[in-house]
Amino acid sequence: MRKLLKPTLAFAAIVASAMWILSAPETLSDGAEFARLGDVEKGRDVFYAGGCASCHAAPKAEGDAKLVLTGGRKFPSAFGTFYAPNISPDSKFGIGNWTALDLANAMVKGVSPGGQHYYPAFPYTSYSRMELADIVDLHAFLNTLPSSNEINREHELPLPTRFRRALGLWKLLYLDNDVVSGDFSRGQYLVEGLGHCAECHTPRTILGGLKSASWMSGAPLSEGEGRVPNITPHADGLAHWSIDDLTEYLESGFTPDFDSASGVMVDVIENTSQLSDEDRLAIATYLKALTPIPKP
Ligand code: HEC
Ligand code: HEC
Repeated sequence: MRKLLKPTLAFAAIVASAMWILSAPETLSDGAEFARLGDVEKGRDVFYAGGCASCHAAPKAEGDAKLVLTGGRKFPSAFGTFYAPNISPDSKFGIGNWTALDLANAMVKGVSPGGQHYYPAFPYTSYSRMELADIVDLHAFLNTLPSSNEINREHELPLPTRFRRALGLWKLLYLDNDVVSGDFSRGQYLVEGLGHCAECHTPRTILGGLKSASWMSGAPLSEGEGRVPNITPHADGLAHWSIDDLTEYLESGFTPDFDSASGVMVDVIENTSQLSDEDRLAIATYLKALTPIPKP
């Protein structure tokens, strides 16, 4: 037994150090793109396309109160309960001290200014496809919003998910900025990147990563009963919706069956209704060009 113990321990130590190295947070290097003054108007469009207020506004906030990004909204999941943080421009309680580079590291690398991994309850797995110029503009827009001195709530996590470092290994499996479907286009950027539509419409693996083979074919609702619908052009999904039906829905929430959007999709439409007609058309065109997949 003794004889075996030494090599076993040595092997375990090698594995542990390899894991430690592999899980290290990766960050962007500072570059000329971050020296530019962000464009507030463009940043506003990025903000609505990205749907930040849906998660970072106070729970139940309406109208202008949605622009106070105090955080506090609760996200129950199989991995524990997460709370959205304050991302208002308050320099103590929010992210007022952050540079555009800090914001870019959070959005595309899922890494905090202190070098810690974020949990994917923050959908950086989609935002990782964002263009850095858009992040610089978004940073400028966020700085024009009202401040809030709400204190961040701690996540409630069971032991196995409490260590952020382990997320480095999760990221090796599920974080990449490759596009999923079709050629690069505005619609693809809005759906797969900023709009993070797949985060709800695509089923997940046991470890919580998106199953790209079942892209947009529908998934269980993360909160409460029911399902998020299949939005591929399959008979189970949007086969009978025209491009016009889709742009109408993204603007007003009305469906071709004379129904209207409900649940969390209402928040999404609050954001897509703020986009330009061209952007809604780009989203609709992308969805209709997806591979039709039956619901899982
Ligand atoms: C689906 C909900 C959701 C959406 C949408 C979302 N976030 Fe978050 N965000 C979170 C959660 C949850 C966290 C906490 C992650 C953690 O603690 O690891 C977070 C963390 C952050 C942080 C880190 C804050 C800190 O104090 O370290 C920033 C910055 C941020 N989000 C910005 C944004 C921006 C900008 C957008 C829109 C483009 C956005 N988020 C959209 C849920 C969301
Ligand atoms: C927070 C989760 C969530 C996100 C993010 C999300 N959706 Fe949805 N979506 C839903 C749910 C839930 C429904 C069902 C709404 C209902 O029953 O009225 C839905 C419905 C839809 C429908 C109507 C389908 C039908 O058969 O009625 C379309 C189209 C759609 N979403 C497109 C999108 C697009 C495009 C995006 C990204 C810009 C997006 N969704 C982002 C949860 C989400």
